[in-house]
Amino acid sequence: MDKKPIIIGNWKMKLGIAESLELAKQLKHIPAKNVDVVVCPSFVSLSGVIDTLRHSSISVGAQDCFWESEGAFTGETSAAYLREIGASYVILGHSERRKYLGETDEMVHKKIKMALTAGLTPIVCVGETFEQRQEGSKDYVLIQQTVKALEGVPLGADQRVFIAYEPVWVIGSGQAIDPAEAAATHQVIRQSLFDIFPSSVVKSSFSIIYGGSVDANTVNDFTSLENTDGVLVGGASLTADSFRDIIQKA
Ligand code: 13P
Repeated sequence: MDKKPIIIGNWKMKLGIAESLELAKQLKHIPAKNVDVVVCPSFVSLSGVIDTLRHSSISVGAQDCFWESEGAFTGETSAAYLREIGASYVILGHSERRKYLGETDEMVHKKIKMALTAGLTPIVCVGETFEQRQEGSKDYVLIQQTVKALEGVPLGADQRVFIAYEPVWVIGSGQAIDPAEAAATHQVIRQSLFDIFPSSVVKSSFSIIYGGSVDANTVNDFTSLENTDGVLVGGASLTADSFRDIIQKA
C-alpha cells in the first residue's frame, strides 16, 4: 500500500520549557521525506515549540483540550486557543487522562467535536488495561471506547481523525505488542467504525495508528502493517537521537 506514515511524539509531562525548545531545535532539520511528523509538547511549551518549528516540516499538537470553546472553566484550555497559537493536532482520551483525571468516553466525545470545530485534528486514544485483557473483554472495551467517542461526530470532507490504539499495559513497559496483534486489533477498531459511519467516510476520514513502547527497532513492524497508518511514541520521542532514528527507520 502506498502510504505516508505519521510519527507522533507525545512528550507528556516529561520536558520543561527549555528542554522542549532545545529538543524542537534539534529536530527542526531532521529530513522527514516520506513521513508526517508531529510533536505534542506540554501546554506551556506549545508556543515556543511552534515558533521554533515554524519553517520545518514538523507539525505541533497539544495533549488535551476542553469541550467548550470559552467560558468560566478555570484551568481548562480551549481548542480555539490552541488553533490560535498554531497547533494542528490534539491528543484526546489518553489512558493517563482517563486514569488520573477521570476522563470518560462522553468527555472524549465532546472534546473531539470541539477540536474538529476549532480546526484541530484529533488523535483519539483507545486501549485496554491488563485486567480487561485478562478477563477477555479487550475487544468489547475497544469497541465501546471507539463508538462512544465517535458516534454522531459530524465529519467534513476535509477532516481527519486519528485513532491511536494504545494497550495501557504496554505503555512505558519497553516491550511493544506483537505487530500481528496490533493488526488484528486495528481491524476490530475499524470494524466498529463501519458500524457508525458510511464506509466511504471510514476510508477517507479515519486513520488508525499504534502506540505503546515503540522505538527505532520496532517502528517498521507497525508502519509496514497494511491497516496501520503510523505510530504514537512516548519515551522514545524525548531525545533527538531516538526520535530521529524512528523517523529515519519509518
Ligand atoms: P511509550 O512509547 O513511552 O510506551 O508511551 C506511549 C504513549 O503513551 C504515547 O501516547
